[in-house]
Amino acid sequence: MAEKTLLLIKPDGVARGLIDTIIKRVEAAGLKVETKKQITLTGEQAAELYRPHLGKQFYPGLVKFISSGPVMACIVSGEQAISRLRALMGDTDPLAAERGTIRGDLKEMAVINEDGIIKNLVHGSDSLESAAREMPIFFK
Ligand code: RTP
Ligand code: MG
Repeated sequence: MAEKTLLLIKPDGVARGLIDTIIKRVEAAGLKVETKKQITLTGEQAAELYRPHLGKQFYPGLVKFISSGPVMACIVSGEQAISRLRALMGDTDPLAAERGTIRGDLKEMAVINEDGIIKNLVHGSDSLESAAREMPIFFK
């Protein structure tokens, strides 16, 4: 099924100048970047993005991290775009992410920030429901 999903290049990826590298990998895998926008999230936008994690111990640090600097938000489309993008991203923990994945190949030496948050470069919606909730946070 053709799907649309949200890709975010997180503040660590933007700060390291990896926007073009990451977008090229997504496009080389046959997915299409329909539109993109660089923005710094407000606290409200960050809270909405990570609402499913509300109540978890890492939630406050996560909201702080994702709004700590600009992100590049992209709408990505293609057949099975949600699962294909997630496969391209690799494991949540970059140290466990396989070679050939964005997180595995592009990770930095220190992958945990001062608040205990895993810096893993990218976010991708994990389901149709998540994509439908997340895309309007960035694109009206
Ligand atoms: P994302 O939502 O960002 O695409 O990543 P994900 O699905 O692979 O991981 P998820 O479980 O949804 O966690 C969201 C983000 O929270 C940070 N995290 N830190 N210190 C920790 O134990 C911890 N656990 C999660 C990561 O930045 C993760 O991507
Ligand atoms: Mg997630």
